Amino acid sequence: MKILSMLLFISLLNLSCDPVHENTQSIDDDLHEKIKSEEPITFDQDILPIFVQRCISCHDDFDSYLDASSYSDVKSKIRKILKTVVETKTMPSDAQNMPQIERDLVEKWINDGALKSLTAPHPLIK
Ligand code: HEC
Repeated sequence: MKILSMLLFISLLNLSCDPVHENTQSIDDDLHEKIKSEEPITFDQDILPIFVQRCISCHDDFDSYLDASSYSDVKSKIRKILKTVVETKTMPSDAQNMPQIERDLVEKWINDGALKSLTAPHPLIK
């Protein structure tokens, strides 16, 4: 656990110092790398930052339908999220242009079992 938090800290440090990351194009490149890699996609690491940016302006904890920053809430609406974000692309509903790579990441995350994090038990294990 200590090592994990260290790694997280170092990567956050890297992000904040790395001027390249101010360019959204390179974030997209990182997402392409992530999708190609064998590394599992997780809510905490990969999906939450996207949902914070793209969804919580409308779906926060004041929204009676969905709090997009809550894993359990997102899990309970996962079919509808797959449908609206990946299939019909009707969400996000505002004018913002959610890049296809982010939709692909959401799709792969769901298909891979919608893990919360690398340390949490697999959601199918009760
Ligand atoms: C600009 C505001 C806004 C943003 C941003 C937004 N939504 Fe929504 N969303 C709505 C509204 C309003 C509704 C309810 C009305 C409707 O179904 O269109 C809704 C409904 C939904 C539904 C239910 C659809 C259904 O068929 O019942 C889902 C799932 C959803 N949003 C997911 C998301 C996700 C995931 C994101 C981010 C990727 C997102 N939304 C971003 C406003 C927004």
